[in-house]
Amino acid sequence: MSLIDEIEAVRKDFRTALDDFPTDPQKIDEIRIRFLGRKGMIANLFSQMNTIAPEDRAKVGKLLNKLKQEIQSKFELQLKNVDTSSKTDSGILDYTLPGIDFPCGSIHPIEQTLTQVKDIFKSIGFSIAYGPEVDDEYHNFEALNIPKHHPARDMQDTFYVTDESVLRTHTSNVQVHLMENEQPPIRYIVPGRVYRNEAISYKNFCLFHQVEGLYVDKNVTFSELKGTLDYFIRRIFGDEIKIRFRPTYFPFTEPSAEVDIWNSERKQWLEILGCGMVNPIVFKNVGYDPKIWHGYAFGLGIERIAMLKYKIQDIRHFYTNDVRFLEQF
Ligand code: PHE
Repeated sequence: MSLIDEIEAVRKDFRTALDDFPTDPQKIDEIRIRFLGRKGMIANLFSQMNTIAPEDRAKVGKLLNKLKQEIQSKFELQLKNVDTSSKTDSGILDYTLPGIDFPCGSIHPIEQTLTQVKDIFKSIGFSIAYGPEVDDEYHNFEALNIPKHHPARDMQDTFYVTDESVLRTHTSNVQVHLMENEQPPIRYIVPGRVYRNEAISYKNFCLFHQVEGLYVDKNVTFSELKGTLDYFIRRIFGDEIKIRFRPTYFPFTEPSAEVDIWNSERKQWLEILGCGMVNPIVFKNVGYDPKIWHGYAFGLGIERIAMLKYKIQDIRHFYTNDVRFLEQF
């Protein structure tokens, strides 16, 4: 084989080596030594120059130098690609590297439950209203027929802000505001935070969320209340859910009931709402004629509903902001 043919053979050889150029530094060095090393292929070709006839030396020498330069420059370029492939500021990107994950938040389970509750009531004709979290005792208590000596006003349950204003203990204060400001018929739900100075446990926290409902019109009946709540609960929990209406007492409704849902995990009933027909005394307090107007009201506990829906065993999880808990929703 003539030296010119050999030069071509080495060039071909190098191009194949380049095709699957390794990224492992040790392997790269092996290739470098094979072609450019002191005893490498290029050096070997140069050592044969003395076998070339003097008149051909210039031509063959030129070819050989060209090959050496080609190999050197391609080698440098390739090396640069390899050892900077992981640095993003090099301007050379390795598109095969896995991407960088950005942490992504999720919607808090309380907010998710609130959204679902609002959607259900909106779909059956309720509007949404909001009211003050800090209110006077009149709207939180007196107008709702909870007089001064009533146990619910005991310091144990109520956070007082000043002598006359409180952190609302329920969203029922907004019933009073709504009726003071609007004439019937009215149909609202009122989502919001409420506060109680209670002993904290797996099912009670000092702060929680309620959704109040208020419907006032001429012919409102208890069976409508029952049907509405039954429909709502089945839309949240599905048709299989076990529900019980239990007679109870609220100063601002008469008759009154509490609704329990069967907690199959704990094998016990969990109260999720209070409800009843608006007490005529409340209508009188806001200037509605109780002979003309009837109404029902209810107050749902959102944490309790979320606990049953997502099988959460302790209400305090909602308020500790542990990412391991929140990530699951
Ligand atoms: N306000 C009551 C509570 O906090 C719930 C309720 C609202 C009951 C409306 C009857 C009517 O427990």
